[in-house]
Amino acid sequence: MKYKELVNEFLKIYGESSERIRIFEAPGRVNLIGEHIDYNGGHVFPVALELKNIVVARTNGTNKINMRVTSLPDRVSASINSLEDYKCLKWGNYQIGVAYILQKAGYEIIGCDILYHGTVPYGAGLSSSASIEVATAIALAKMGGKEKLNMVEIALLCQKAENKYVGMNCGIMDQFVSALARKGHAMFLDCNTLEYEHVPFDLGDYTLAITNTNTSHKLTDSQYNERRSECERALEIINKNGGSYDNLCTMSITDLEKYKDFLDEEVLYKRARHCITEEDRTVRALYFIKMGDIKSFGKLLCEANISMRDDYQATGKELDTIFNIAIRIEGVIGSRMTGGGFGGCNISLVKKDKVEKFKYIMKKEYMRIIGHEPFFYESNAEKGGSELLHWR
Ligand code: GLA
Repeated sequence: MKYKELVNEFLKIYGESSERIRIFEAPGRVNLIGEHIDYNGGHVFPVALELKNIVVARTNGTNKINMRVTSLPDRVSASINSLEDYKCLKWGNYQIGVAYILQKAGYEIIGCDILYHGTVPYGAGLSSSASIEVATAIALAKMGGKEKLNMVEIALLCQKAENKYVGMNCGIMDQFVSALARKGHAMFLDCNTLEYEHVPFDLGDYTLAITNTNTSHKLTDSQYNERRSECERALEIINKNGGSYDNLCTMSITDLEKYKDFLDEEVLYKRARHCITEEDRTVRALYFIKMGDIKSFGKLLCEANISMRDDYQATGKELDTIFNIAIRIEGVIGSRMTGGGFGGCNISLVKKDKVEKFKYIMKKEYMRIIGHEPFFYESNAEKGGSELLHWR
């Protein structure tokens, strides 16, 4: 939908007013490598996508935030005086969570009418939630009068909204890249210090094919939270038995072996091993990308997938199927699941002139094995969230 059409849609819903209509947007992302280690003090390497969430908004002079979305019949009208009351909304709790957390952090939240439109598929592991949060935060903060934003703070507040309001214990990766990405670049982020580097995203003769399993698993959030607490348990046991590590990603494999016997449940050992090896792969991936050694980078993607499958056990039948099909297709030099896992998307590094063939074989084989179609996306590396100044 074009911006002007969206504004027309907005006017159809909310009518004319003398207040100015403003448009804000923020992107979804894929993570190249560094999975499930943002909350373990590791490095991550995400890229913001052209897929995004758009917010059309206007202040309304009341104490209500009214929200609609182009894809659902849901409508929400939340009072800015009791923002803590909307946690159970089926649609809209992420947005009101952001409003609530911003307000608690001292941002002025004022009444406004909002229309959402998104092209990030929901529940596909491409960070539709973070992109909604970041676009909402920019919109609410600016409309409340704070025009100059500290985007690191915005990312942290959005993560807090998801942790404390929605109850999903996510790390900082998605909100950070959605808020601060640079066009044409991937982002190498140290989740311990929040230092980051924009890395030119050039895959030479290759491109990233994103394949959506097209299955959303209801248990995703609880399985995610379970993985996170397993990591916390592993670290706690290690530190109770002589270790003094701030997080799992600062350990080496040799360190971990010393504590193996204390980690009585095998899964705890495996989770810790994933974190340590994934951190090492992510740091090496940065080196290979900078050197333009895309083949070595591709190999790391496959190793990362195997670790997510066997040690972190966060893939599942659909993602495993895509990986198994992908690595056998001519022109593919790397492949892995991306994002939280348990369904969602895979990224494969495919020779540019073999992409159509890749999609053809993938679709046919995936349908034969799983029974429904996968979806495909390609995208350039986009910039982080912002207000759109020239949409008229
Ligand atoms: C989800 C979370 C992120 C990160 C990834 C896995 O996308 O929101 O914080 O943990 O999963 O890498």
